[in-house]
Amino acid sequence: MEDVYAMPLHDRTTWLHGDFFHCLQPPVALGRTWRLVLLGPPGVGKGTQANLLSAMLGACPLSTGDIFRAARERGGTHSGLMQAHDRLARGELVPDDIVLQLIHNRQTCLRCEAGFLLDGFPRTTAQASTLDGLLAMHHVRLDAVILYELDERELVARLAGRRVCSRCEAPYHVTTRPTREPGICDHCGGPVTQRVDDKPAAIRTRLAAYFEATARVADYYRQQDLLLTVSAASEPDVVLAQSLQRLASRGFPVPQVSQTV
Ligand code: AP5
Repeated sequence: MEDVYAMPLHDRTTWLHGDFFHCLQPPVALGRTWRLVLLGPPGVGKGTQANLLSAMLGACPLSTGDIFRAARERGGTHSGLMQAHDRLARGELVPDDIVLQLIHNRQTCLRCEAGFLLDGFPRTTAQASTLDGLLAMHHVRLDAVILYELDERELVARLAGRRVCSRCEAPYHVTTRPTREPGICDHCGGPVTQRVDDKPAAIRTRLAAYFEATARVADYYRQQDLLLTVSAASEPDVVLAQSLQRLASRGFPVPQVSQTV
Protein backbone atom coordinates (compact mmCIF):
# COMPACT_ATOMS: atom_id res chain seq x y z
CA MET A 1 0.00 0.00 0.00
CA GLU A 2 1.17 3.56 -0.71
CA ASP A 3 2.63 5.57 2.16
CA VAL A 4 -0.28 7.92 2.74
CA TYR A 5 1.86 10.07 5.01
CA ALA A 6 3.89 10.97 1.91
CA MET A 7 0.74 12.39 0.31
CA PRO A 8 -0.32 15.97 0.89
CA LEU A 9 -3.14 16.29 3.42
CA HIS A 10 -6.32 17.92 2.18
CA ASP A 11 -6.54 21.66 2.47
CA ARG A 12 -9.03 22.09 5.35
CA THR A 13 -9.21 25.87 5.42
CA THR A 14 -12.97 26.01 5.89
CA TRP A 15 -12.91 23.49 8.71
CA LEU A 16 -10.03 25.06 10.59
CA HIS A 17 -11.10 28.68 10.20
CA GLY A 18 -14.87 28.71 9.60
CA ASP A 19 -17.35 29.21 6.78
CA PHE A 20 -15.92 32.60 5.80
CA PHE A 21 -12.86 30.76 4.46
CA HIS A 22 -12.71 28.43 1.49
CA CYS A 23 -10.54 25.40 0.84
CA LEU A 24 -8.09 26.07 -1.98
CA GLN A 25 -7.87 22.39 -2.89
CA PRO A 26 -11.15 20.83 -1.77
CA PRO A 27 -11.12 17.03 -1.57
CA VAL A 28 -12.80 15.01 -4.31
CA ALA A 29 -15.09 12.09 -3.45
CA LEU A 30 -13.69 8.78 -4.69
CA GLY A 31 -16.52 6.50 -5.85
CA ARG A 32 -19.21 7.84 -3.52
CA THR A 33 -19.68 10.54 -0.90
CA TRP A 34 -18.72 9.11 2.48
CA ARG A 35 -20.00 10.59 5.72
CA LEU A 36 -18.49 8.82 8.69
CA VAL A 37 -17.87 9.47 12.38
CA LEU A 38 -14.77 7.93 13.97
CA LEU A 39 -15.25 7.28 17.69
CA GLY A 40 -12.95 5.92 20.36
CA PRO A 41 -10.80 6.83 23.34
CA PRO A 42 -7.85 9.23 23.18
CA GLY A 43 -4.84 7.63 21.51
CA VAL A 44 -6.77 4.76 19.92
CA GLY A 45 -5.70 5.93 16.46
CA LYS A 46 -8.69 7.93 15.18
CA GLY A 47 -6.48 10.59 13.56
CA THR A 48 -4.26 7.94 11.99
CA GLN A 49 -7.27 6.08 10.60
CA ALA A 50 -8.91 9.32 9.45
CA ASN A 51 -5.87 10.03 7.25
CA LEU A 52 -5.72 6.46 5.92
CA LEU A 53 -9.45 6.31 5.23
CA SER A 54 -9.31 9.73 3.61
CA ALA A 55 -6.68 8.49 1.14
CA MET A 56 -8.93 5.53 0.27
CA LEU A 57 -12.32 7.27 0.22
CA GLY A 58 -11.57 10.91 -0.62
CA ALA A 59 -13.59 12.28 2.32
CA CYS A 60 -11.99 15.05 4.34
CA PRO A 61 -10.66 14.25 7.84
CA LEU A 62 -12.18 16.80 10.25
CA SER A 63 -11.05 16.96 13.87
CA THR A 64 -12.43 19.39 16.44
CA GLY A 65 -9.18 19.12 18.41
CA ASP A 66 -7.38 20.45 15.30
CA ILE A 67 -9.63 23.54 15.31
CA PHE A 68 -8.65 24.36 18.90
CA ARG A 69 -4.95 23.80 18.18
CA ALA A 70 -5.10 25.86 14.97
CA ALA A 71 -6.81 28.73 16.84
CA ARG A 72 -4.06 28.66 19.44
CA GLU A 73 -1.36 28.66 16.71
CA ARG A 74 -2.94 31.74 15.16
CA GLY A 75 -2.78 33.43 18.56
CA GLY A 76 -6.41 34.59 18.38
CA THR A 77 -8.03 36.40 21.27
CA HIS A 78 -11.53 34.92 20.95
CA SER A 79 -12.29 34.16 24.60
CA GLY A 80 -14.23 30.95 23.85
CA LEU A 81 -11.33 29.49 21.89
CA MET A 82 -8.78 30.53 24.49
CA GLN A 83 -10.93 28.95 27.20
CA ALA A 84 -11.20 25.85 24.99
CA HIS A 85 -7.44 25.58 24.69
CA ASP A 86 -6.96 25.83 28.46
CA ARG A 87 -9.41 22.96 28.89
CA LEU A 88 -7.68 20.97 26.15
CA ALA A 89 -4.29 21.44 27.85
CA ARG A 90 -5.71 20.01 31.09
CA GLY A 91 -7.34 17.11 29.22
CA GLU A 92 -10.90 18.23 30.02
CA LEU A 93 -13.74 18.32 27.51
CA VAL A 94 -14.50 21.72 26.01
CA PRO A 95 -18.06 22.86 26.94
CA ASP A 96 -20.77 21.88 24.47
CA ASP A 97 -21.82 25.48 23.72
CA ILE A 98 -18.33 26.37 22.45
CA VAL A 99 -17.99 23.18 20.40
CA LEU A 100 -21.46 23.49 18.89
CA GLN A 101 -20.91 27.11 17.91
CA LEU A 102 -17.74 26.02 16.07
CA ILE A 103 -19.59 23.30 14.21
CA HIS A 104 -22.41 25.67 13.40
CA ASN A 105 -19.85 28.02 11.82
CA ARG A 106 -18.49 25.21 9.66
CA GLN A 107 -21.66 23.75 8.18
CA THR A 108 -20.19 23.95 4.69
CA CYS A 109 -17.98 20.97 5.57
CA LEU A 110 -21.01 18.88 6.52
CA ARG A 111 -22.63 19.35 3.12
CA CYS A 112 -19.34 19.18 1.15
CA GLU A 113 -19.80 16.80 -1.78
CA ALA A 114 -16.49 15.12 -1.00
CA GLY A 115 -17.92 13.91 2.33
CA PHE A 116 -16.32 13.91 5.75
CA LEU A 117 -14.64 11.81 8.41
CA LEU A 118 -15.48 13.40 11.75
CA ASP A 119 -12.74 12.70 14.31
CA GLY A 120 -13.34 13.77 17.93
CA PHE A 121 -16.86 15.08 17.30
CA PRO A 122 -19.46 14.33 18.59
CA ARG A 123 -18.14 13.63 22.10
CA THR A 124 -21.34 13.99 24.14
CA THR A 125 -24.91 12.91 23.41
CA ALA A 126 -25.90 16.61 23.23
CA GLN A 127 -23.32 17.07 20.45
CA ALA A 128 -24.54 13.91 18.69
CA SER A 129 -28.13 15.09 18.72
CA THR A 130 -27.15 18.55 17.43
CA LEU A 131 -25.17 16.91 14.63
CA ASP A 132 -28.27 14.90 13.67
CA GLY A 133 -30.26 18.14 13.44
CA LEU A 134 -27.63 19.88 11.29
CA LEU A 135 -27.33 16.93 8.92
CA ALA A 136 -31.10 16.72 8.56
CA MET A 137 -31.20 20.44 7.78
CA HIS A 138 -28.74 19.83 4.91
CA HIS A 139 -30.60 16.67 3.76
CA VAL A 140 -27.61 14.41 4.34
CA ARG A 141 -27.17 11.36 6.58
CA LEU A 142 -24.35 9.54 8.30
CA ASP A 143 -23.33 6.30 6.60
CA ALA A 144 -21.79 4.75 9.71
CA VAL A 145 -19.96 5.38 12.97
CA ILE A 146 -16.76 3.39 13.48
CA LEU A 147 -15.86 2.75 17.12
CA TYR A 148 -12.18 1.86 17.64
CA GLU A 149 -11.36 -0.14 20.78
CA LEU A 150 -8.08 -0.78 22.60
CA ASP A 151 -7.06 -1.63 26.15
CA GLU A 152 -6.14 1.22 28.46
CA ARG A 153 -2.48 0.32 28.96
CA GLU A 154 -1.85 0.45 25.20
CA LEU A 155 -3.77 3.76 24.95
CA VAL A 156 -1.45 5.34 27.51
CA ALA A 157 1.64 3.99 25.69
CA ARG A 158 0.43 5.43 22.36
CA LEU A 159 -0.35 8.84 23.87
CA ALA A 160 2.83 9.17 25.92
CA GLY A 161 5.01 8.28 22.91
CA ARG A 162 3.12 10.31 20.32
CA ARG A 163 4.79 13.19 18.52
CA VAL A 164 3.04 15.40 15.95
CA CYS A 165 4.28 17.68 13.20
CA SER A 166 3.35 21.22 14.23
CA ARG A 167 3.01 22.22 10.57
CA CYS A 168 1.11 19.41 8.78
CA GLU A 169 -0.08 17.42 11.84
CA ALA A 170 1.34 14.11 10.58
CA PRO A 171 1.38 11.73 13.58
CA TYR A 172 4.53 9.91 14.76
CA HIS A 173 5.47 7.75 17.72
CA VAL A 174 8.87 7.61 19.42
CA THR A 175 9.11 3.83 19.16
CA THR A 176 6.57 2.56 16.62
CA ARG A 177 6.79 5.35 14.03
CA PRO A 178 9.82 7.56 14.61
CA THR A 179 10.79 10.35 12.22
CA ARG A 180 13.77 9.64 9.95
CA GLU A 181 15.57 12.76 11.29
CA PRO A 182 15.02 13.40 15.01
CA GLY A 183 12.39 16.11 15.53
CA ILE A 184 11.85 16.77 11.77
CA CYS A 185 8.71 15.76 9.89
CA ASP A 186 9.41 13.23 7.09
CA HIS A 187 6.53 14.69 5.11
CA CYS A 188 6.96 18.49 5.24
CA GLY A 189 10.19 19.16 7.20
CA GLY A 190 8.23 20.91 9.99
CA PRO A 191 9.11 20.61 13.70
CA VAL A 192 7.79 17.47 15.39
CA THR A 193 6.78 18.02 19.02
CA GLN A 194 4.79 16.52 21.90
CA ARG A 195 1.20 17.69 22.33
CA VAL A 196 0.53 19.68 25.49
CA ASP A 197 -2.21 17.20 26.49
CA ASP A 198 0.02 14.14 26.07
CA LYS A 199 1.58 14.67 29.52
CA PRO A 200 0.67 12.03 32.20
CA ALA A 201 -1.84 14.14 34.24
CA ALA A 202 -3.72 15.30 31.13
CA ILE A 203 -3.76 11.75 29.73
CA ARG A 204 -5.47 10.50 32.92
CA THR A 205 -8.07 13.29 32.74
CA ARG A 206 -8.77 12.62 29.04
CA LEU A 207 -9.31 8.91 29.58
CA ALA A 208 -11.66 9.63 32.50
CA ALA A 209 -13.62 12.15 30.37
CA TYR A 210 -13.95 9.56 27.61
CA PHE A 211 -15.30 6.84 29.87
CA GLU A 212 -17.65 9.29 31.67
CA ALA A 213 -19.16 11.12 28.68
CA THR A 214 -18.02 10.00 25.25
CA ALA A 215 -18.54 6.27 25.68
CA ARG A 216 -22.29 7.07 25.87
CA VAL A 217 -22.15 8.41 22.32
CA ALA A 218 -21.46 4.84 21.17
CA ASP A 219 -24.78 3.75 22.73
CA TYR A 220 -26.52 6.66 21.02
CA TYR A 221 -25.34 5.42 17.60
CA ARG A 222 -25.83 1.75 18.46
CA GLN A 223 -29.50 2.53 19.00
CA GLN A 224 -29.60 4.04 15.50
CA ASP A 225 -27.93 0.89 14.11
CA LEU A 226 -25.02 2.95 12.78
CA LEU A 227 -22.25 1.58 15.02
CA LEU A 228 -19.44 -0.62 13.65
CA THR A 229 -16.82 -1.82 16.15
CA VAL A 230 -13.18 -2.37 15.11
CA SER A 231 -10.24 -3.48 17.26
CA ALA A 232 -7.38 -0.97 17.02
CA ALA A 233 -4.81 -3.41 18.41
CA SER A 234 -3.11 -4.23 15.09
CA GLU A 235 -0.87 -2.23 12.77
CA PRO A 236 -2.57 0.82 11.20
CA ASP A 237 -2.87 -0.82 7.74
CA VAL A 238 -4.61 -3.84 9.27
CA VAL A 239 -6.98 -1.61 11.27
CA LEU A 240 -7.74 0.23 8.03
CA ALA A 241 -8.49 -3.03 6.21
CA GLN A 242 -10.76 -4.14 9.05
CA SER A 243 -12.58 -0.78 8.98
CA LEU A 244 -13.23 -1.17 5.25
CA GLN A 245 -14.29 -4.76 5.77
CA ARG A 246 -16.83 -3.67 8.40
CA LEU A 247 -18.21 -1.06 5.99
CA ALA A 248 -18.40 -3.71 3.25
CA SER A 249 -20.31 -6.00 5.64
CA ARG A 250 -23.03 -3.31 5.72
CA GLY A 251 -23.25 -3.36 1.92
CA PHE A 252 -21.15 -0.27 1.22
CA PRO A 253 -19.01 -0.43 -1.95
CA VAL A 254 -15.51 -0.09 -0.50
CA PRO A 255 -12.23 0.03 -2.42
CA GLN A 256 -9.98 -3.01 -2.17
CA VAL A 257 -6.83 -2.94 -0.04
CA SER A 258 -3.98 -5.38 -0.57
CA GLN A 259 -4.03 -6.59 3.02
CA THR A 260 -4.94 -9.92 4.55
CA VAL A 261 -6.94 -9.49 7.74
P1 AP5 B 1 -8.48 15.41 19.96
O1 AP5 B 1 -7.46 16.15 19.22
O2 AP5 B 1 -9.70 14.95 19.26
O3 AP5 B 1 -7.76 14.22 20.74
P2 AP5 B 1 -8.28 12.77 21.23
O4 AP5 B 1 -9.67 12.40 20.91
O5 AP5 B 1 -7.91 12.74 22.67
O6 AP5 B 1 -7.56 11.79 20.36
P3 AP5 B 1 -6.08 11.86 19.99
O7 AP5 B 1 -5.87 12.83 18.87
O8 AP5 B 1 -5.24 12.05 21.22
O9 AP5 B 1 -5.79 10.35 19.54
P4 AP5 B 1 -6.21 9.59 18.25
O10 AP5 B 1 -7.27 8.60 18.59
O11 AP5 B 1 -6.49 10.52 17.11
O12 AP5 B 1 -4.87 8.78 17.98
P5 AP5 B 1 -3.68 9.05 16.95
O13 AP5 B 1 -4.08 8.62 15.58
O14 AP5 B 1 -3.13 10.41 17.11
O15 AP5 B 1 -9.01 16.31 21.19
C1 AP5 B 1 -8.11 16.94 22.04
C2 AP5 B 1 -8.89 17.72 23.08
O16 AP5 B 1 -9.70 18.73 22.44
C3 AP5 B 1 -9.87 16.94 23.96
O17 AP5 B 1 -9.21 16.31 25.05
C4 AP5 B 1 -10.81 18.06 24.40
O18 AP5 B 1 -10.20 18.86 25.39
C5 AP5 B 1 -10.94 18.91 23.15
N1 AP5 B 1 -12.02 18.50 22.26
C6 AP5 B 1 -11.89 18.10 20.96
N2 AP5 B 1 -13.07 17.84 20.44
C7 AP5 B 1 -14.00 18.05 21.41
C8 AP5 B 1 -15.41 17.91 21.47
N3 AP5 B 1 -16.12 17.49 20.40
N4 AP5 B 1 -16.03 18.20 22.64
C9 AP5 B 1 -15.34 18.62 23.72
N5 AP5 B 1 -14.00 18.77 23.73
C10 AP5 B 1 -13.33 18.48 22.58
O19 AP5 B 1 -2.64 7.95 17.47
C11 AP5 B 1 -2.03 8.07 18.74
C12 AP5 B 1 -0.59 7.50 18.67
O20 AP5 B 1 -0.66 6.10 18.42
C13 AP5 B 1 0.25 8.10 17.53
O21 AP5 B 1 1.58 8.21 17.96
C14 AP5 B 1 0.14 7.07 16.40
O22 AP5 B 1 1.28 7.07 15.57
C15 AP5 B 1 0.00 5.77 17.19
N6 AP5 B 1 -0.84 4.78 16.52
C16 AP5 B 1 -2.01 5.03 15.87
N7 AP5 B 1 -2.52 3.89 15.39
C17 AP5 B 1 -1.67 2.90 15.76
C18 AP5 B 1 -1.66 1.48 15.58
N8 AP5 B 1 -2.66 0.86 14.92
N9 AP5 B 1 -0.63 0.76 16.10
C19 AP5 B 1 0.37 1.39 16.77
N10 AP5 B 1 0.43 2.74 16.98
C20 AP5 B 1 -0.60 3.46 16.48
